[in-house]
Amino acid sequence: MQGHADRLMAEMTLAEKIGQLNLLAAGEGLTTGAAQATPLAQRLDAGQVGAIFGTKSLASARAMQERALEGSRLKIPLFFAEDVIHGHRTVFPLPVALTCSWDLDLIEDTAAFAAAEAASEGLHQVYAPMIDVSRDPRWGRIAESPGEDPLLAARIAAAATRGFQGTGIAEQARVAACLKHFVAYGAPDSGRDYDNASLSWEDLLAVYLPPFVAGVREGAASVMASFNAVNKLAMHAHEPLIEGWLRGKTGFGGLVVSDYTGVKELTAHGLGPAPVVVARALHAGIDMDMVGEDYLAELPALAEAGIDAPDAGFAMSASDIKALIDRACHRVLSFKDRLGLLEDPFRGIGDTQAPSRLAGRKLARRAAARSAVLLKNDGTLPLGEAARVALVGPFAHDRRNMLGTWSVSGNSDDVVSLSEAVTALTGSEPLTAWGANIVDDDWLTRRLNVHGITVEPDPRSEADLLLEALEQARQADVVVVTVGEAKEHAGESSSSLSPALPPAHHRLVSALKETGKPLVVVVFAGRPLALGAVADKADALLYAWHGGIAGPEGVADLLFGAATPSGRMCVTLPLHPGETPISHAEEPTGRPFPGAFQKFRTGWLDLPDGVTRFPFGFGLGYGDIRYGAPSVSGASAPASDKVLLTLDIENAGDREAVETVQLYASDPVARITRPARFLFDFKQIRLSPGERREVVFEIHAAQFAYPIAPSLETAEWVRDPGLVQLHVGPNSRDTQTVDLTWDS
Ligand code: NOJ
Repeated sequence: MQGHADRLMAEMTLAEKIGQLNLLAAGEGLTTGAAQATPLAQRLDAGQVGAIFGTKSLASARAMQERALEGSRLKIPLFFAEDVIHGHRTVFPLPVALTCSWDLDLIEDTAAFAAAEAASEGLHQVYAPMIDVSRDPRWGRIAESPGEDPLLAARIAAAATRGFQGTGIAEQARVAACLKHFVAYGAPDSGRDYDNASLSWEDLLAVYLPPFVAGVREGAASVMASFNAVNKLAMHAHEPLIEGWLRGKTGFGGLVVSDYTGVKELTAHGLGPAPVVVARALHAGIDMDMVGEDYLAELPALAEAGIDAPDAGFAMSASDIKALIDRACHRVLSFKDRLGLLEDPFRGIGDTQAPSRLAGRKLARRAAARSAVLLKNDGTLPLGEAARVALVGPFAHDRRNMLGTWSVSGNSDDVVSLSEAVTALTGSEPLTAWGANIVDDDWLTRRLNVHGITVEPDPRSEADLLLEALEQARQADVVVVTVGEAKEHAGESSSSLSPALPPAHHRLVSALKETGKPLVVVVFAGRPLALGAVADKADALLYAWHGGIAGPEGVADLLFGAATPSGRMCVTLPLHPGETPISHAEEPTGRPFPGAFQKFRTGWLDLPDGVTRFPFGFGLGYGDIRYGAPSVSGASAPASDKVLLTLDIENAGDREAVETVQLYASDPVARITRPARFLFDFKQIRLSPGERREVVFEIHAAQFAYPIAPSLETAEWVRDPGLVQLHVGPNSRDTQTVDLTWDS
């Protein structure tokens, strides 16, 4: 049966088809102050826009849709997209923070809530989930990522896709997910945003691609290409990865959009002038061109004359270009059809009720408490409500930074600051002091404030700030000091040479430690920061990230025991910024060799001993969790069998606890070097005081398959019989090991 898209295609002119491939930003809207038509309005009148992102209200979406329909001979509607990265109006914790909850239901719920808010404003597609695995804290966009591990990231990709899309993208209160950024955007050389990712095909297949496979399996309707090159070929021109792998191997049948001016940027990547790069991007499988308008400018002539560019090593006939335009246009129309827009262009514009803001706040507060990771606690936490608290540091009253990066529709007025949250919870106002500036450097302050003010230094000298903080601390029973980084420190184009706590924050913590008062350090940040000696000085240490509108309330709940800490790091915290990239899944080398080569033992000559390391998966609670000895249903098994690994987990404490039981694996003998250990599975359980539960993991031989890939085209997944090891525990370091042998 001929579908809607085919019927339209049969009637469309070449110009109309090219118009559908143009994706524009809403920008200033349809008219300027003097009621002049904006460039966007002119494009709509000419039928030259397929979709718009960044509309800021239902009314503007409606006006744009009406204008598009007037300008389109065949009445083809627009669809509307937006960056809904960690919530829409209701801003949830940063994705890297939410990942630390390891709570897939929570992640699905936050995505579903964001979808409902977005849909109620006429949006059809969100540029999320961002599923770029990243092992480099220097890269600012690690804030948006699901952390360092492919298995965890894949589960999150699936959960978020379910949350956004429900059982269909045309459903009320749901939107189309857009998996991004395809691919390896999280592995730029030196951690510099946009840089080439130079990596083995094995790593690409085993580390960076699995979240995309999971999102596609869950039915994600669209994908965004990434800015970077992978092994020398820019992703917007990467036909082998987009058409070859994504569509060919995973069976993805949805829409691929470019990133912002990503097609145009191929010229800067060195791939040739506009006509060449447009033909290459279209050939690679980029269906829509975001903002750059190069498809609009170049495709008419390319469809007329084709292209022959020997200097760029690229040629294509006019008829092939026309066929590619048809392919891309058909995908755009099919996407609109799936959204229900070809039936009803105003579907979703005005007929979806916004979800309750109150329900959103509750969810955001729970999410914030679940995302923060308690890294250290000598018993100082939870605080008694009667404790006299000195709340020190530049984040005590902060609202703006709490939203975190990429919160384009959030409003900092919705944030309840930490000092207000503590007051509301305990009934008494904490003593407060600024203590230290977020940054002290004018130049950096200006750079961080490019998108609006997030950093406003206190003009007093550091010594004066410190003095005031010490006075407050001396009057208190306990000191809570807030340190970290600004919202704009992390995010796009915010790579950092030194992902560490600023020196002034170290000095503040050291001075407060001298008071002898119990010291609780709360870190607000967008990336994993090397904490250095701060970790040792703290009596309790909470990594709270940028937690969204209710971030500080979630922190207050944890500090005073109204919520129980359950976050587990989804990244390894480096000891020193120079250790990056870093992950738990590092590969063994020939050295260090047990008992020899002492000098090389630590990996870094200048890394001091005795600094606390917080491994991937690490996090504490207020319970007293005990792991029983694990056992397997058989120490050896044929590959066709499943093996069960069983262990008991007990909460011997007197508070409820949420425990994430983590199973790692290693494959000590293989055809190539495998990671020393890698996350294999995890289960989250809630335990009442005194409760004991049996946890069972199913192990299948197929899960040990790994890629061998001399090239992308010749890649194959293989598995070998023999010994594997299973390591179970509360984090990637503190595990118990069981051997298992696959007989076949
Ligand atoms: C650039 C970013 O890389 C991408 O994540 C975002 O969705 C687009 N701009 C649109 O804002």
